[in-house]
Amino acid sequence: MSRMIAFISHDLRQPLTAILANAELLTRPNISEMERMDFYQEIRWDVDRINELVSSLLECSKGRDSLRLAVGNIVKTVEHAIRMTCARQEFHRIVIKHHHKGRAVGWFDCSRLERAVVNLVLNACEAVDPGSGQIVIATTGRKDTVEIDVSDDGPGIPAMVQASVFRPFVTYGKAQGNGLGLAIAKKIVEDHGGMIRLDERCETGTSFKITIPFASPR
Ligand SMILES: Nc1ncnc2c1ncn2[C@@H]1O[C@H](COP(=O)(O)OP(=O)(O)OP(=O)(O)O)[C@@H](O)[C@H]1O
Ligand SMILES: [Mg+2]
Repeated sequence: MSRMIAFISHDLRQPLTAILANAELLTRPNISEMERMDFYQEIRWDVDRINELVSSLLECSKGRDSLRLAVGNIVKTVEHAIRMTCARQEFHRIVIKHHHKGRAVGWFDCSRLERAVVNLVLNACEAVDPGSGQIVIATTGRKDTVEIDVSDDGPGIPAMVQASVFRPFVTYGKAQGNGLGLAIAKKIVEDHGGMIRLDERCETGTSFKITIPFASPR
């Protein structure tokens, strides 16, 4: 618990310090209009970071009882997750493909499973080349389960980090990572009674595999 509070405090203090510094710069006399906009943008950006962290922490704190199982279409869920990620300007040139086989309709919590897929796709977008990166999402609906594979052609995850990627606050190689994306994905998948794993046999890039129970709607 105290380790967690230390991580959260650190992640909150960084943007708060930056906000204070930029707010003080804004009070200086004789700053140009351009400088004023720059200071304002920095503040906006740091507030967004704090908001993202708070949303991630709230997502982590949701219990299994908050799961809202309903009839959903996995193809629609994945495609919505792709649209959410592609909306970011910096990922516009990355190619994200989605293939589906088998049954598409089953029982799951659409919005929470979408969050898990978004977290995997965001990591893939952050890892690949922004001008030529390729991400493939393959979904397969079987009799009782649905599988979701998210693969990218990025640099892969270093062996020393692989074992701990699903742990909260484990982040590596990112200036602004909170280390919560995969912990949240794991929690959502396990709340569904499913499993998530990193494909360690993957020789190039990175591949994550989700399997969740997928009961047929009656
Ligand atoms: N597709 C990927 N390619 C390369 N490295 C990855 C990939 N997915 C995850 N990782 C590694 O695993 C770490 C943990 O990922 P996770 O999503 O939990 O945290 P984060 O992306 O650092 O921060 P957050 O998601 O909270 O913003 C990342 O920092 C990164 O080093
Ligand atoms: Mg992440």
